[in-house]
Amino acid sequence: MKTDLNKTLPLSFITTEFFQNPYPFYEKLRSIHSIYWGNLLKYPGWYVTGYEEAITILKDIRFKNRIPLPQTSKKYELLKNIQNDMMLFKNQPDHKRLRFLVSNVFTPRMVEHLRPYIQETVNDLLQQFQNKKTMNVVSDLAFPLASLVIAKIIGVPEEERYQFREWAAILIQTIDFTRSRKVLDNGIAITIILRDYFKELIKKRKNCPAEDLISLLIKEEQQGDRLTDEELLATCILLVIAGHETTVNLISNSILSLLKNPHQLMELKEKPFLIEGAVEEFLRYESPTQMTARIASEDIEIHQTTIKKGDQVYILLGAANRDPNIFHNPHLLDITRYSNPHLAFGYGTHFCLGAPLARLETQIAIKSLLCRKDNLQLAAPDLQWRKLIGFRSLNELPITFD
Ligand code: HEM
Repeated sequence: MKTDLNKTLPLSFITTEFFQNPYPFYEKLRSIHSIYWGNLLKYPGWYVTGYEEAITILKDIRFKNRIPLPQTSKKYELLKNIQNDMMLFKNQPDHKRLRFLVSNVFTPRMVEHLRPYIQETVNDLLQQFQNKKTMNVVSDLAFPLASLVIAKIIGVPEEERYQFREWAAILIQTIDFTRSRKVLDNGIAITIILRDYFKELIKKRKNCPAEDLISLLIKEEQQGDRLTDEELLATCILLVIAGHETTVNLISNSILSLLKNPHQLMELKEKPFLIEGAVEEFLRYESPTQMTARIASEDIEIHQTTIKKGDQVYILLGAANRDPNIFHNPHLLDITRYSNPHLAFGYGTHFCLGAPLARLETQIAIKSLLCRKDNLQLAAPDLQWRKLIGFRSLNELPITFD
């Protein structure tokens, strides 16, 4: 249904209300149509809030991924070239090839081997708060954990791991739908630093391999094929971005969800064996990735809607995960929810490669925090969400405990 949403909706994306709580806006969109044409972002497009509709699009490879930067701009050439080499923005058959080469090395088994390191890192981080009564979950627990783990996986030396936090925070904004010129300019500066950093590290690992992802990817050869140097570099940068932000947000959003639902918090504290299902519910309830996008490569008819070649399609994962046709009481946090086929990690060929890692880090972080600390409470009544549309991300999460 093609009408301009701005004329019918009092809300728009870029409002304080939206950043604080996007769900009423999604409901409003859905109540008009689950696939709706609107002019809410820089490029007009279809806003998909329905679960079934989201799946139909995500599994149809005629809906293409592409880098979110202006294609004509020379200024962002470096950023564009690197993003062009990331599997996230590739289409078939190039995507299949890249994903195959990387996923042969970045496996659920490799992630499971990291369990002791993740537990040890969480223990160390929590130990620093042994005699304290407050903590900022974002900067004291979630960020250092995600940062140290992804840096270890890639093979970044220990003393250099902390600087990744700052770089990742800037880079994530370059792939959000709100990005401004200033954000892109900062992004370029960080990309240059990261490019030079990884070029050097890749060179070192070529001469002197270690037991890390870079060394394994250099060695990895399948059916006579291997990653080019540019693809290896882009993969490292993608993993730094993807491995940081979303996991930090999942851990922080999960703890906030529990603090706002004290009965659920109590239940999880009493029954820590519920942690796996609980993390799936946190993923559904406050999805770290709220939106992804595709572009139609031809005219495509889905769910009685014709999407024209070249149309942008915005898939609101955070809305699909609260679709009442699929999830009973969707706005309720229920850590024992029986069926929970959420789309927080996407769906189809681009399904998140890091899902096992994100799940494991979050399970360990939350279980350990609940086991060590009693009487967890929010320390500030007003929390600020970052002004991002594609990601659900708190600036800070101050808490108190006994
Ligand atoms: C809670 C944490 C995470 C969430 C919510 C998340 C979410 C997602 C989503 C929604 C996609 C699909 C995007 C699309 O189809 O357009 C995706 C793809 C991807 N994610 Fe994650 N992610 C998380 C953590 C991670 C981690 C820890 C890593 C790696 C260390 C990672 C690596 C990737 C990669 C490489 C892709 C691209 C896969 C492909 O194109 O084939 N993610 N992620």
